[in-house]
Parts: sequence; C-alpha cells; structure tokens
Amino acid sequence: MGMIWLLLGVAVLPMGSYASGGGILPTALRCEYRVEPQGIDETAPRLTWRVESGDRGAKQAAYQILVASSAELLAKNTGDLWDSGKVAGRDTVNIAYTGKPLGSRQQCFWKVGTWNDAGEAKWSSPALWTMGLLQPSDWRADYISFRDATSVWKDKTNLFLPPAHQYRKEFYAAKKIQRATVYATALGIHELHLNGQRVGDARFAPGWADYHQRAYYNTYDVTRLVKSGPNAIGAWLGDGWYSGYIGFGLLTGIGTEAIGRNTYGKTPSFMTQLEIEYTDGTRETIVTDKSWKETGDGPVREGDFLMGEYYDARKVTPGWTKPGFDDSQWNTAILAAENGSVPATFYEFRNPENPDDKTKIKGRPVDLGFKRPPKLEAFPGEPVRPIQEIKPVAITSPTNGVYIFNLGQNFAGVVRLKVKGPAGMKIQLRYGEMLYPDGRLMNENYRKARAIDHYVLRGDKNGEEWTPRFTFHGFQYVEVTGYPGKPGKDAITGIVLHSDTPLTSNFECSDPMSNRLFRNIVWTQRANFLDLPTDCPQRDERFGWTGDAQIYVHTATLNADVAAFYTKWLRELMESQRPSGAFPGYAPYPFQHGWDFGTAWCDAGVICPYTIWQAYADTRVIERCWPDMVEFLNWRKATSKDFLGIMHGNNWGDWLSVGERTPLDYVDTVYFAYSANLMSQMAAAIGKQPEAADYAELFSNIKKAFGQKYLKPDGSLTVDTQTAYALALFMDLMPDDLRAKTGTILADKLRFGETADNSGMTTGFLGTRTLLPVLTSVGENDLAVRHFQSRKFPSWGYEVEQGATTIWERWDSFTKEHGFQGKNGKQNAEMNSFAHYSFGAVCEWMIGDLAGIQSDSPGYDKIKIHPMPPTPGSNHEREPIHWVKAHYDSIHGRIASEWRQAKGKFELNVEIPANTTATVYLPASSADQITVGGKPLAKAEGVKFLRLEGGRAVLAVASGQYRFACLASR
Ligand code: BGC
Repeated sequence: MGMIWLLLGVAVLPMGSYASGGGILPTALRCEYRVEPQGIDETAPRLTWRVESGDRGAKQAAYQILVASSAELLAKNTGDLWDSGKVAGRDTVNIAYTGKPLGSRQQCFWKVGTWNDAGEAKWSSPALWTMGLLQPSDWRADYISFRDATSVWKDKTNLFLPPAHQYRKEFYAAKKIQRATVYATALGIHELHLNGQRVGDARFAPGWADYHQRAYYNTYDVTRLVKSGPNAIGAWLGDGWYSGYIGFGLLTGIGTEAIGRNTYGKTPSFMTQLEIEYTDGTRETIVTDKSWKETGDGPVREGDFLMGEYYDARKVTPGWTKPGFDDSQWNTAILAAENGSVPATFYEFRNPENPDDKTKIKGRPVDLGFKRPPKLEAFPGEPVRPIQEIKPVAITSPTNGVYIFNLGQNFAGVVRLKVKGPAGMKIQLRYGEMLYPDGRLMNENYRKARAIDHYVLRGDKNGEEWTPRFTFHGFQYVEVTGYPGKPGKDAITGIVLHSDTPLTSNFECSDPMSNRLFRNIVWTQRANFLDLPTDCPQRDERFGWTGDAQIYVHTATLNADVAAFYTKWLRELMESQRPSGAFPGYAPYPFQHGWDFGTAWCDAGVICPYTIWQAYADTRVIERCWPDMVEFLNWRKATSKDFLGIMHGNNWGDWLSVGERTPLDYVDTVYFAYSANLMSQMAAAIGKQPEAADYAELFSNIKKAFGQKYLKPDGSLTVDTQTAYALALFMDLMPDDLRAKTGTILADKLRFGETADNSGMTTGFLGTRTLLPVLTSVGENDLAVRHFQSRKFPSWGYEVEQGATTIWERWDSFTKEHGFQGKNGKQNAEMNSFAHYSFGAVCEWMIGDLAGIQSDSPGYDKIKIHPMPPTPGSNHEREPIHWVKAHYDSIHGRIASEWRQAKGKFELNVEIPANTTATVYLPASSADQITVGGKPLAKAEGVKFLRLEGGRAVLAVASGQYRFACLASR
C-alpha cells in the first residue's frame, strides 16, 4: 500500500458516528418525512426513524411506538393516543399510525423504543407532530383582499406590476397563554408577522398548486410570539404564481389575455386563523375578516417572480405589525369575494380535432373573480428557505458607475443589498448567469423575465439593508447601477433559496474535473428544486417540466432527501393529468402550449412515483397515484397500435440530441414498455397481483412487438442511433442472448464516432441519462469511464472546461471559442439556460456504478456495493479514475463506498447502516485473496463469502464499517 493511500485512508476512515455501548439507538425521528411537522392533515401519518449502533451487524429485533397527547404523559411512558406494543421486526420506515382517531389541532408527542437481538432496549428522544385543521368547518376565517379597481391587463408591450399589499389587525389577549397556533394560506404569496417578528422562515408560501383545484396552508406554533395584552398580526401579500407573470405566457401569447399573468385569478387574497388557548382552558380565535386594515401604499411597489421587485424604502411603515401602529390612513380590507366577477379571455393551445392538423391557440371566456379553492390542504412539502449566503469573489466595472458583482457560483435566490446614501437615490440590480467577453452582463437568456430589482433609499445615516421577498432569480452576477460611490464587497451578498431538502450525498475521485462536475450537479438541483422541480431558474419558464423531472428524479433522490418535496409535487403532477389520461409537459399546468403532452414527458406520471417508492420504500405514494397511473396506461394502450407506440403529441423526443434523431414512434414504444413494466412492479408492491400480471403481460407483448419491428438478428436495431440502443437496453427490451451484442454495437458507435475534437456522443435528454449505466451493464465500463472523463464536445468534461459551475441546458451553452453561439457558432443565445439539470442525471451512474452504491430492495433496506473501477491504462488520453470516495445518506442512514486501485491491489472501505444488510462485489478471483481490516476473510466478523460471479467475489455483509482489500482480478 503506497503512502498516498495511507494518508487517504487516515483522512477518510472516521465514517459516520455511532452510538457507543450495547444496544441500538433510535434517532432521526420523522413524521411524514419531516422533522416535527406542524399542522399535518394525514390522519394515519407515517413514522420513520433510524437505528444507530457501534456494533457490526446490529439489527432491530423489535420496536415500540408511544404517542401521547402531552409531553408529561410521554415522559411517563403512557401512549394515551397510541401504544403500538412491542412489535417484533426490523421495520423503521413509514410505519402508519393506528392509534386513536386524530382530530384537528391534536398535539402528538411521540418516541420510539428499540430492542436489539440481545434484548437490550433504548428509547429515542421525544419528538412532536401536530394536526392541522382537518374539517372545512374548522376554518372560521374568510379570504380577504383589497378593493381592486384596476382592469385586467391586456398590454403585451408594457408590464403591469402592481404593489404588494399589507394587511394588519390588532387584538387583545386577555389571559395567560397556553398555546397559540396560526394557520395561513393565500391565493398569491404571503409572509406573516406577529408583534414585529416574522412567523417562520418559509419563502413563497403557500407554494404553487393549481388553485382552481386546491391550495395549501401552513401552520406555525406562535406560542412564544403572542403576548398577554395587546398584540398585532400582519401579512404581506404578493401576486406569486396566482396572479403574477408565469412561464412563457407573455413570450408565446398565451394565458389570460395572452400575456401570461392573472393565470388563476385577478386579485391575490389571504386567509389566516390564529387560535389562542389560555391556561384556563378557554380559547380565542382571530380570523381574517372585514375588521382587518390594508394598504397598497407600502414600500413594495412591484413584486413579481419573473420581473423582479421594486422597493421604495421611503414608504416603509415602521412598526406596522406591532400594536399601537396608526393605521387610520389604511383601508378596510374587503372579503375577497366582494371584488365580484372579473370576465376575461383565456388563451391557450388546443389539441387539433384531427391529429394531422396543427395545434392552435384558442380563447375562452373565464371569470378571474375570487373562487375558494375546493380543497385546502396542509402543505406537505419542505418549504423554500434561505439556505446559504454567498460572498462576492470579484467586482468589476465595465462602464462608469456600473458595478458587476461575481458571486463565483450560479444559483437561485436573491441578494441582500447594503448601502448608505441619500433618501430617494435609486439603485438598480440586474442579474445574469454569464458575462460577455467584454465584461458586460449577459442576460439574453432570461427572455421575457425582466429580472430587475430596484431599491430606493430612505436615507438612513446608519446605512440600510434590503432583500426582496416576492421574487427570485437564477444568477451568478449582479449588475449594480446607481450605487452611491464605489461599492465594497459587502454591498451585495447572495442568498441561496430553495426547498429545504437536506443534502444527502458526496462524490470525489481522482479526476478533479469530475469533482467539479459533481458540485455542478448538486448546485443545479438546488437551483431548481424551488417548491417544484423546475427546468431552470432564470428565464421565463421555471416550469415543472415532466421530461426533465423523470430523467433526473433518481439522481435527485441521491443528492437530497426529496421525499416530502416529491410528495407535494406528485399531487400537482397527478392533478394535472389531461382529460385523455396523458400527463402533460409540465405540472402544475397553468396553460397549454402546443399539444398537451409529449412522449417520455407524459411517462413522468409513472416513473416519478416508481422512483420515490424505490428510494424511500413508500408504497403509499403508489396507492395514491394508482388510479391516475392506471388511467394513463389506459390512454397509452388506447393510442398504441399493435403494442407499438406512435408519433403523437409534442415532438420533443430525445430533446437536444447532437447529430442523431431518434424517431418519435420509437421513443413512444420504449416508454410505453417501460411504463408498463414499472406499473407491473408497483402493482405487486401494493398487493395487486392480477394487475401486476396484466402489466407484465403488456410489457412482454410490447417487447415482442418491439423485437419484430426494430430488432435484427445480429442485435442491431433498425433505428440506428445511440439513444435507440441505450433506451432499448436500459428498458430491458433486448432478448437476453442479444444484450451483449447490442451493447457492443452501441459501444462501437460511441468509440468509432470519436474524433480528435468530438467525443462521439450523440444522445439528448433521454439517451444521455441511460448511456453510461447501459455501457457499464453490458461490459463496456472502461469505455463508459473514458467517455465520462472526456473533455471533448459533447461531454460533461467539455462543459466543465468551459467554466461551468452548474449543468447547462446544452453542452455548448457557452464556449471559449464562440461565446454564446455554441460550438458551431449557431446556437440561439436566448434558448440557453445555465442551470438545467437533465444532463446531470449522470450522477446516478457516478454514485451507483462508479462508486457502486445501489439499492437492492425498496428503500435501501438491502444494499449492493458494486464499484466499477476502470482497467488501469484503459484511457490513452488521461489516467483512468483510480480512486473514488462517495456516500449516500439513505433513509436508513449513511452508506459509504470508497475504493482505490494501485499496483494490482484493490481496496474498498464500506459503511453499511445498522439494521440493513449488503452484498459487496469485489474484483477478486478467489476468496483467499481478500482481507478484511487486514485479516483473512474467513476470520472477519460480519462477512460471508457467497460465490464468484462475473469476475467478482460476492460477499454478504452485515451493517458496520469494513476495510476490504484484494488483488484486483483482470
Ligand atoms: C424546457 C425543457 C423542456 C423542453 C421541452 C424547454 O423549454 O426548458 O427543459 O423539457 O422545453 O422540450
């Protein structure tokens, strides 16, 4: 073992922290995937924990859950709401509550005890969840609004950007407070304050839903904010997704009055209910009603997601959410319904009657007046929060008085502006992901998203600070104009915003390019997981594009805990299902553009629930999506011909492929097969055996039809594109005896397509996701790794070498040679996002194959560690990757794999979480060559040799940490 490896080993060995002493400790208690959620509306919420242990092979032999109505009862081990009793078994994930029926507002204090095999018990620390308002009649509040005298905007050339409104009410709490809880929702975006303090730290609440069908509310425990005596409650209210500009409505002339704003309604409205329980058992409820005051004359003069925010600090109303503020100049709020009906015309594309005709934009009358969403549900996701601050790395000044702050990283969020200057001075902030070579800000690619913020100083002698609240941008650079004097670096701080999905992975290896790439992937995920999985955070789209989502969802589950996040978005996806049964191109689906579906995009409705089930052992998600998924498959069956897909819908296909086009009917066939296959597996998982058999038969019929139409006896396909081969192999459409041959054909296409300045890859969104996993699976791992390490166009390395800090929409979104015109000087700079995650789906291969961390059963209950090191010397251009270090924090805990090969020796450090088991694959030709922690395999605790298979020694491994070493078999 060389010196370097020794150093590396020392640096990485302390992996994870374990409980000391005997027994297993239950930790990380979560309810519906969240830590101590407030106001949930699942009446059989699912509870999850992890077990930790310092012992190899530690398993949970039994558990007991206690749920109590008070902390005191729980401390006395009394589960008055639910005592599960001692339940034998290893289950720790998604155990549904089956105690006393849970009513509105119920507080549920809970803990879990776990026993190990030796009968030792340990109890977790207590945790809490609370129930929300479960019955519509629990809501005594009304939606309130302001008297909106403006007419519906129809102007395509000038923007309509109304001010945000402020709402307030004072109230008196007469007695000593026991508990105070506030429930709040909005058609628009709200930000709640109590007695001068912000309630919670969620941004853009209550998130994007199809407000015609549902809205979400958030619940906050405000016991510490409400005081006995005088109090005040206030809220900001902005347009948000409800009535602000969204997507490409303005660009393409669709939506309300063909300008893409007022999509769901004309005027934002807001509803809150504050419930106070006094220590004497009496209650008081403060609700939104006509006793509230409101103003639209505050500092937020404009606040729009796409267009930006205009803040005039001279109009600040200090103390407006504290008692005693003089609101005599404010208006009385009205009930939202009092604005009456607002007739308008809504434009969107329609599918043609005859499939050969073109789609056309058509208008229909709508009423933009207030309508109470039929469903009001507890927000089930992780809120958007400020997650990180970023300091500028450089300030440049391309022209006099214009300063560009480089934050060193492309991300989504806002900035905090710090400034001292005279009242009335106006500062303008523009945003860009890139600069032109001459140093100017480049933002052609924002299209109709104006993305400009303004701040007007109030002239505070001590300086002033400001962060917008109703907008966000995707950017790395901020152009500041109108700043008094020369700004220092502290004038601008980047504030990273995204849904608070905890990060769960790391990847490092011997090729520094790949390490930058991994960071770029994670940053791109963070820039786009903002309430929904968007395509991009900068231009006028920011839609939940379903194709991108299905391509990336597996990677998403590796890089962050997205269980709650997807639980929310899957509701939007199911709800956006078209009348035909197809899932649309994006969800939510505010307006139709082109056809209302595209093949492979529509299959997100099956692929995403499947992937969430696989990652988190979540069968409820299958049950909830089942009826919609069945309808989708019915549509797929009805549109197919003799078990083959057809050309239909939007022709996105293998979107952004380079030099090869895979026909749409081919793509439609393979995705039809794939969806049928996943449906069969999901049916089996929820005990629907007949359906499982039906879908399995459907899959095999499609496979047969596919074989007859596309497959030649030599393993080649009549559709001769890399994507065609990669998809057929990935989706299991090849007969077993031809897989290897087909794999070689695919590999040769890539291998022989390579030239001095082209990597040879031709795949687009769909094919790229599958390319490397497929190559590795057919015995072409050396080629996969070599291509992964390529720096030639098109490749991940090419993009990194052009300076990427995120994943770009196109491989050549920027080139050092041709700037924004791409590799061939022909790219459209406008249609070019620098934060688009689809090509980042290679991460599932990096972690799953290169590092070898794979799930072997839903929820990583069984784990496979199957690292795929390339053969030393197998790359003539650069040293093949020779060490990898990665981890994934699964729902059971940390799984780590770290390997290194040198001088014919292969070493692998592995961490397997307690209460799980793993199968480890080592490139050894016999068991005798393997050592574990320096000792012969036979003497190792927790490891059992199973067999030799495909040049690997296969070992059964119990939980714990291991250092394996062997002579590499080649
Ligand atoms: C989006 C994509 C999306 C595509 C459909 C684009 O404008 O940004 O990522 O999947 O349209 O082809």
